[in-house]
Amino acid sequence: MDTDYLHKFIKKIEYDSIQKIRNERQQWLQRKSNHKFDKALHAIPAFQTRHLVLEDIVSIGKSEELSPEQHETLQQTLDTYIPWRKGPFNVFGTFIDSEWQSHMKWNRVLPVLDALAGKRVADIGCNNGYYMFRMAAYHPELVIGFDPTARYYYSFHFLQRFAQLPGLHFELLGIEHMHYYPAFFDTVFCMGILYHHTDPISMLRKIYTSMKPKGQLIVESLGIPGEESMALFPQKRYAKVPGTWFVPTQSCLVNWIRRAGFRQVTPFFAKKLTIDEQRSTKWAPYESLEDFLAPNDPSLTVEGYPAPWRFYVQARKP
Ligand SMILES: C[S@@+](CC[C@H](N)C(=O)[O-])C[C@H]1O[C@@H](n2cnc3c(N)ncnc32)[C@H](O)[C@@H]1O
Repeated sequence: MDTDYLHKFIKKIEYDSIQKIRNERQQWLQRKSNHKFDKALHAIPAFQTRHLVLEDIVSIGKSEELSPEQHETLQQTLDTYIPWRKGPFNVFGTFIDSEWQSHMKWNRVLPVLDALAGKRVADIGCNNGYYMFRMAAYHPELVIGFDPTARYYYSFHFLQRFAQLPGLHFELLGIEHMHYYPAFFDTVFCMGILYHHTDPISMLRKIYTSMKPKGQLIVESLGIPGEESMALFPQKRYAKVPGTWFVPTQSCLVNWIRRAGFRQVTPFFAKKLTIDEQRSTKWAPYESLEDFLAPNDPSLTVEGYPAPWRFYVQARKP
């Protein structure tokens, strides 16, 4: 893994703090539970494909670039990285119909997004890198994807072994480490993250620290309907999702972002979540949205809370 790209960008003091966390997290990868992911990563020798399409279906490689034996290995590798939550991808001719139709989210963000050419971009909670691949099409200087989940580290690196896009970097760090990158990023994506944290305001302040003046923040969050600036605090789970803390109304989300110091805080999209966007598939064969809603009343979650919406907000660091 390339761990040194950061040297040329960041001061020694922050570099040393980041490196310490990186070293700890590299140790995570040695855990027995990750051995199968690591083995799968190296099962096909790396090469740069000539077939790369960074559109709604991110296509990496063509079928004829692999031998029949390598195709068998490919299937095993792709199976090892199940569940594929974000996508869709086409990998050497195999279509990965992921749980989320992530291109829908990307296409909502695109109309408000600053030009990414030459910019430094953070994708917080980057998962398998689907959005990083979409960003690469716009020629940023670099994209750092932050995600502390080993499975996604490996699935990103598997795809990148063949895409070999320059400037894409996956860090096993989280939103809580953003302050180690002071005034660093031009554009920060924080999508599907804030409701998973006990203190969303502190997280937004860390993001604020990480951004250059005039930088653009894109936030996307699970939310509940309502006009008041309020957040639901579920008894235990919300829509069966563990680790859900505060589920805001749209105005509450705007309020959080403004009170964290951002300006020009503007909601640009809101929609009730539907099974067109999130559903169980062969590549993510587990419970999905349909199972999270009350069987007799889709306006409620199984716990009896208001069913989820998704809210999109853009903002600027002054
Ligand atoms: C709900 S998914 C959202 C993925 C993607 N950003 C999107 O909007 O489709 C949450 C992601 O955050 C990652 N994650 C978990 N803890 C995190 C943390 N502390 N900081 C950043 N990301 C985290 C998970 O591994 C997962 O990929």
